Amino acid sequence: MKLKPPKNGKDYVCLAIESSCDETSAAVVVNGRTVLSNIISSQIDIHKEYGGVVPEIASRHHLNNINPVIDRALEEAGKGFEDIDFIGVTNRPGLIGALLIGTATAKALAYALDVPLIGVHHIRGHICANYIADAGLEPPFTALIVSGGHSTLADVKGYTDYEIMGQTRDDAAGEAFDKVARVLGLGYPGGPLLDELAKKGNPEAIHFKRVYLENDSYDFSFSGTKTGVLNYLNGKKQKKEEVDKADVAASFQAAVVEVLVNKTIRLAEEKGRDKIVLAGGVAANSCLRRTLEEKCGEKGIKLYLPPLVLCTDNAAMIGAAAYYEFLEGAEPDNMTLDAYASAHL
Ligand code: KG4
Ligand code: ZN
Repeated sequence: MKLKPPKNGKDYVCLAIESSCDETSAAVVVNGRTVLSNIISSQIDIHKEYGGVVPEIASRHHLNNINPVIDRALEEAGKGFEDIDFIGVTNRPGLIGALLIGTATAKALAYALDVPLIGVHHIRGHICANYIADAGLEPPFTALIVSGGHSTLADVKGYTDYEIMGQTRDDAAGEAFDKVARVLGLGYPGGPLLDELAKKGNPEAIHFKRVYLENDSYDFSFSGTKTGVLNYLNGKKQKKEEVDKADVAASFQAAVVEVLVNKTIRLAEEKGRDKIVLAGGVAANSCLRRTLEEKCGEKGIKLYLPPLVLCTDNAAMIGAAAYYEFLEGAEPDNMTLDAYASAHL
């Protein structure tokens, strides 16, 4: 089934759905760039109690939330189901039970409305958030995607043509932030709390290991840096010495950010790209944003930083990605669409 001809000659209205982790979100996006609504129902307060996302609880809440969230997205956009030209949904990668709620809902809607359905890779969605944030952005560019589950460096050659250049070999950047925040007793999710605390600390107080791996590698490894923090804290405890948590937070953050920024700039230079885009939840990190801004300024590279609401999980970014997948010829998935816990970009 092909996309039906646009009603007014140009506009494609997408109803997009995201439920891969702990945010239930629905959005109405026109032509991949214009967001009419982007409703995000976060479960953070529910999972806080457990110190992390509990997959079964997440699925149950997605099930309760998804229909009201879709209704609100349509209402806020001033659209009805009859206005929807196609549906985009995150079907990979993520928590499988959570993904299945969004995917099953999207299939039911696509069937009932008789419109095409496009399954979207979550990380492609994060990258495409930048098309919403900046109407003039076009590929090619270098993309750094840093979230709770991923640290990925990609060379984006076209709207649907991605080459993965580096990935995490152990902890994702956000995961490392969350774990270090937990041992510092900051709570969940730890990334933003650690970012705040780090503002009061000295990033040069403690030297934590920067792991660059092989000379030509674009992969990341943060578990050694995280273990460095644990060893430092244990050492202090044994010696019964006071710990300046703000210094630990600032020094750890500086170590992670240094590696992320240096590898990203190196990739952009190697590929001759003059644009870098940042994506994923950790793109909200103030030190990462500032440092990338400084380095890109020095190198004459244009940096694209999405606003915070588009950095963390949301359905608008899925609507943008679905639009380009469709324009570039992806076959609608409709009744064959499945959900996958892991998937290549
Ligand atoms: O993209 P996202 O919302 O969900 C995933 O797809 O994983 O990213 C969530 C991650 C969490 O690990 C959270 O701690 C981290 O992004 N994060 C931050 C900041 N804001 C969110 N990490 C560091 N500094 C921040 N300001
Ligand atoms: Zn995400």
